[in-house]
Amino acid sequence: MSAQRNFSRYCKFSTLVLLSIFMFSFLSEIKINIFVSWPRFQSNPEPCTTASSATLSSSTVTTRHPLAPPYPHPYKFLINQPEKCRAHNPFLVILVVGQSHDVHTRNAIRQTWGNESNHPNVSVARIFLVGVSTIASKATQMLLEEESEAYADIVQQDFLDTYYNLTLKTLMGMEWVAKFCPNARYVIKIDNDMFLNVDYLIHHLLRPEMPARRDYFTGYIVSNTGPLRSKAYKWYVPKEIYPNDTYPPYCAGPGYVFSVDMARKIYEVAQVIRTVPMEDSFMGICLYELKIPPTSPPANIFNGHRIDYDRCVFHRLVTVHHYGPEELQLIWPDFWGKNNSGCAK
Ligand SMILES: *[C@@H]1O[C@H](CO)[C@@H](O)[C@H](O)[C@H]1NC(C)=O
Ligand SMILES: *[C@@H]1O[C@H](CO)[C@@H](O)[C@H](O)[C@H]1NC(C)=O
Ligand SMILES: *[C@@H]1O[C@H](CO)[C@@H](O)[C@H](O)[C@H]1NC(C)=O
Ligand SMILES: *[C@@H]1O[C@H](CO)[C@@H](O)[C@H](O)[C@H]1NC(C)=O
Ligand SMILES: *[C@@H]1O[C@H](CO)[C@@H](O)[C@H](O)[C@H]1NC(C)=O
Repeated sequence: MSAQRNFSRYCKFSTLVLLSIFMFSFLSEIKINIFVSWPRFQSNPEPCTTASSATLSSSTVTTRHPLAPPYPHPYKFLINQPEKCRAHNPFLVILVVGQSHDVHTRNAIRQTWGNESNHPNVSVARIFLVGVSTIASKATQMLLEEESEAYADIVQQDFLDTYYNLTLKTLMGMEWVAKFCPNARYVIKIDNDMFLNVDYLIHHLLRPEMPARRDYFTGYIVSNTGPLRSKAYKWYVPKEIYPNDTYPPYCAGPGYVFSVDMARKIYEVAQVIRTVPMEDSFMGICLYELKIPPTSPPANIFNGHRIDYDRCVFHRLVTVHHYGPEELQLIWPDFWGKNNSGCAK
């Protein structure tokens, strides 16, 4: 009797266990399905049609990892410069990446390498890319709008300006070029803590007298790296966001250069693949999807590290990392004002 009761109790218990196992696997099945239904890397992406991006975005809305930049999403331009390229097509668009409160840095850049009048025979357009600040107040936003009216060089969309959203800022730059400056020739995307030698970039790398390149993307090429999986890193990327162990080759984020056609191509492919928070790695993934590998630049012209200022050295390179506003203003008169006939060939 009691053995039988025990047995039936055991049966109830194991039914419960079985039921929980079933429920658990059912739930994880849902989870697995959710992951499977994410937009997948396509080997041959279709150009962005409204229909396909709409279905893809609706399937991602509820399932996106919190660190994955929300995309595609119709971010609104809060500040825009739709007229910037209307009067004349720039040879070079300089997209400067910074934050809305970096007004001091923007002014230093306007007075140094970002001055559009430095190159009387070549049209250059400078644009600062910003998102919505997590710390700035309404008053700061109003100042930003005034600054934009004064200089006509700020573009802002309504995404939160955080490190993990940097990809959104780059894609905003691609969108802006594709929509408002499609007849430019080349673009450089550069961080606002850089030294940039625009003259060398124009006359030695891009060369206005040469036919325009297409499918061109260059910078300091990083290859054979992969996502960092430890949460301790600033650059942590979980498997749910990017499952592969390696990134395709990409150009290091502080400064890379591309032909204008790439802006539209990258903007379009980004509508149909999963975004990754590391914006430079993500550009590499876009290039991989587009089957357009980055072009190797001449040696030592893109420097992701700091080099101490030396006029003769700085005259023969494109970028140097870690130059803040004070230092830029300090070296500029020497860099721009002196002739270099004394430099060794
Ligand atoms: C930019 O350069 C031009 C020509 O040299 C100069 O007149 C102008 O003051 C400069 N602009 C800024 C903001 O420094
Ligand atoms: C600009 O072009 C004119 C005419 O072609 C030339 O004389 C002048 O030296 C050029 N200026 C610069 C800074 O290259
Ligand atoms: C990225 O921006 C979106 C849109 O503003 C925001 O909802 C999200 O929290 C941001 N993500 C991160 C990781 O900051
Ligand atoms: C990721 O790995 C898969 C499976 O090996 C491969 O098909 C795909 O091309 C890779 N994607 C990238 C961006 O490397
Ligand atoms: C550059 O400076 C040298 C002397 O250091 C001078 O001989 C030369 O004429 C200058 N060149 C120009 C273009 O100003």
